[in-house]
Amino acid sequence: MKRYSLDFTKITKSANKLIPGVSQLLGKRPDMYLKDNSWPTYYKKAKGVNIWGIDGTKYYDFSMMSAGTSVLGYADNDVNKTAIKVIKSGSISTLNPPEDVELAKLLIKDNPWAENVKFARTGGESMAIAVRLARAYTGRDKILFCGYHGWHDWYLAANFKSKKNLNFHLLPGLKTLGVPKGLKGTIIPFRFNNSEDLEKIVRKNAKNCAAIIMEPCREELPDKKYILKIRKIANKYKCVLIFDEITSGWRLNSGGAYKILKVNPDLVVYGKTIANGIPMSAILGKKKIMSQALKTFISSVFWTEKLGPACALTFIKKYKKLKVSKKLIYVGKRVKKIWKKAAMLNNLKIEISGIDPLASFKIITDNWPATITYFIQEMLKLKILASDKCYANYKHDEKSLKIYEKACNLVFNKISLIHKKGTILKELDGPIKEMGFNRLTKK
Ligand SMILES: Cc1ncc(COP(=O)(O)O)c(C=O)c1O
Repeated sequence: MKRYSLDFTKITKSANKLIPGVSQLLGKRPDMYLKDNSWPTYYKKAKGVNIWGIDGTKYYDFSMMSAGTSVLGYADNDVNKTAIKVIKSGSISTLNPPEDVELAKLLIKDNPWAENVKFARTGGESMAIAVRLARAYTGRDKILFCGYHGWHDWYLAANFKSKKNLNFHLLPGLKTLGVPKGLKGTIIPFRFNNSEDLEKIVRKNAKNCAAIIMEPCREELPDKKYILKIRKIANKYKCVLIFDEITSGWRLNSGGAYKILKVNPDLVVYGKTIANGIPMSAILGKKKIMSQALKTFISSVFWTEKLGPACALTFIKKYKKLKVSKKLIYVGKRVKKIWKKAAMLNNLKIEISGIDPLASFKIITDNWPATITYFIQEMLKLKILASDKCYANYKHDEKSLKIYEKACNLVFNKISLIHKKGTILKELDGPIKEMGFNRLTKK
C-alpha cells in the first residue's frame, strides 16, 4: 500500500539541508510525531478539522490542531472574509489600523479590571513585553514563574542554575546555549498548584521579584485557595501578577480562564487563538504598569498591520455568538470518553488528564515512548493525525468523532495484543519518536 508520496519526503529532505529543525515550531517537527519519514509534514490546504497533505491525501486532525491556534476550525469563513477584505484594502500603511482601538475597547470591556492594552503578534514576544513592563515598573530584575512562556532569553535563563529547572514546565531539556550567563539567578521556577513551593519559593522570594508569572490553568485549574494566596503574596510584596493565557484563553470560556477563578491579575497575555490562526497577541493590564511602555522601548513594525486586530474582532464576536466554549468542552469530554472506553474494552490501563478542551492520555505500558509512536503510526494509516493530546475544535463534529472513535478502538486493540506479546519495538516502522512535552503537574 502506498502510504506516502515521494513529494513530501523530497521536500523534507531539502528542508533538512536548508532549515535547521525543518519547522519553525518544535511541536511541528516531523520527528515529534514519527521518525520513519511517513509523517506528512507539509500541507496544501486546511479547512475545518481536515488537512490535505501536499500529495492530496485528506486527514482528520485530532492532534494539537496547530498547537491550538484555530478553535473555530482551519480557514474559518468569517475570519477569511475579514482577512481578504483587509488584504484588498491594504493590510499595512504609514498610518495605523483603527481596528486596534476597537479591539482595545472590546478587550477592556471583557477584562474590566484592565485599563490599557498593547498589541504584538506572537506569544513569546508578548511575554517578553510583559516581563519588560513588570521589570520597568518595579525596578527589580528577578522573576518567579511556573509554566511555559516562550523561547526568549529571560525564560531559558531558568536552566542556568539547574539543567532540570524547566523540566516540570512543559518542555524538558531546554538548553541555555546562546543565553547570556549574566541572566543566571534572575528567574526562579515554582511548581503549579503546589502549596509547598508557594511557601518555600514564592513567598520567600517575592519581595525581590518584579513578577509572578503563571498560566492560570493548563492541565487543571488550580485550587481556589492557592490562587488567592498567590494574589495576596503579589499584593503584599508589590510584585506584578501576570497570567499567561496564550494557550488557556478561549478554551473554557471567552477570553481568560482566570475569570472562572475570579482572581484578577495585574497583566494578562493573550495570543494563539485570539484571531483564529491569524498572527495576533495582546497584553492587557493596569495603567500604572502598562504606561511603562512609554518610558522603556517596546516597538515593532509588524505590530501595526491590520490583519491581526481585524481578524481578532471577527473571531471574538463569533466565538461569543456561537458559545464556542460549550462545544469545545463537549468535544473534549467525548474524546476523553472515547479513550477511556477503548482502553477498558482492551484491558489497557490509561491515565487521562487536562481540562476538557486540552485533553491528553497516557497508556500505562513498559515502554510509553514506543507505544505512543505506534499509536501515531497506526492512526496515520487510517488518515488521522493523532498524538497523546487532542485539542478540541468547534468543527470536530459527530461524523469526525465517530471516525476517531472507530480508529482509537482499532489501534488500542492492536496495542493490547502487542502489549501481551511484548513485541512493540518490532511493530514500529521506524525509530521511536522524539518525546518533547511534559505535562504540567503538581509533582
Ligand atoms: C502558555 C504559553 N505561553 C507562551 C507560548 C509561546 O507562544 P508562541 O509560540 O506564540 O511564541 C506558548 C506556546 O505554546 C504557550 O503555550
